[in-house]
Amino acid sequence: MLRTVAIAFFALLAPVLLSCEKVPSVTTDTNQEEQQQDNGGNTGSLKPTGSTLVVYYSFTGNCRAIVNALTTNIKADVLEILPAEEGLDYAADNYAIGSSLIAAIREKPDDASSYPAIKPVNRNAADYDTIIIVTPLWWSNMAAIMQSYLFREGSKMKDKTIGLIVSSASSGISSVVADAKRLIPEGRFLAKSLWINSSNRGQQDTLIKEWAEASFNNNDTMPDHINITVSGKTLPVAIVDNNATKALVAALREAPISYEASDYGGFEKVGPLGRSLPASDSQISTLAGDVILYSGNQIVLFYGSNTWSYTRIGRMEYGSLDELKAFLKAGQGNITVTLSL
Ligand SMILES: Cc1cc2nc3c(=O)[nH]c(=O)nc-3n(C[C@H](O)[C@H](O)[C@H](O)COP(=O)(O)O)c2cc1C
Repeated sequence: MLRTVAIAFFALLAPVLLSCEKVPSVTTDTNQEEQQQDNGGNTGSLKPTGSTLVVYYSFTGNCRAIVNALTTNIKADVLEILPAEEGLDYAADNYAIGSSLIAAIREKPDDASSYPAIKPVNRNAADYDTIIIVTPLWWSNMAAIMQSYLFREGSKMKDKTIGLIVSSASSGISSVVADAKRLIPEGRFLAKSLWINSSNRGQQDTLIKEWAEASFNNNDTMPDHINITVSGKTLPVAIVDNNATKALVAALREAPISYEASDYGGFEKVGPLGRSLPASDSQISTLAGDVILYSGNQIVLFYGSNTWSYTRIGRMEYGSLDELKAFLKAGQGNITVTLSL
């Protein structure tokens, strides 16, 4: 079946696939080989230099070229996944090896022995907030080598922001997106994955730049403030820069968000945002005026103080405490809160 579906496709595209140019290696970590110990696992031996990790696999060089372009737009550590067995030609004999690797995973996706062995890696996904996966498509699925990495490491990506860039000749990427979500069940996937294929590869640098800008809102495009409106009155909120505020600002760029909030504990107005934001909770003692993310999906507006595990969003810029309490209708029941840019 696997073969039947794709045979026509390959009859047309094999010459294109096989003519992929060699792309110079992305500058990754020096002496990676030395730093990897052959323990069959993740040594995570290199310290992260930032909050973003780009993980890629490339057989014929297309994904490597994508990573080269991507890392001119975003600052990231780069991890290349390599098969344990060197020198295999996944495309030989009408893609026989690649085909059987994908067939084995499809048959038993929950069985570790279905996944081809990969070399140990020297970056630990748990050290990063954002992970961008750059992978080829094989027989409509994610390339088997990348699936091996995610089968082993995907559980370390809980609550991380996950970006996905897929390179194919022409097949659509919906099954690759499904593979990624199966292998990283608790990742927070960006709404838009990027698909590079034979027809748009000529414009890939522009497409990657636009995707990175839209997805990660570079600091210089991140606003200092958002607005909170209650009963026709608006207060500015000075926001901090973290993954939660980035995601909130991205959502507010689409449309303002309104929600119902109620009094709790005599110190706050709390209500459900109607969506989850990437939390990075820590123990915080709040002050009146603080705007806080609670439980990843509720916004708390403080007119008093509390100590709990929260993610900071920002601070309302108010006059006196009485004015803040009047604005939030403290102790007076439900209010409708609108957040906007
Ligand atoms: C084993 C194998 C299977 C592939 N299956 C498909 C496919 O079903 N549809 C498709 O459009 N491209 C397919 N391709 C082509 C790759 O997705 C495409 O050339 C991709 O850009 C390769 O990325 P890379 O150069 O980084 O390895 C396949 C390639 C290989 C090696």
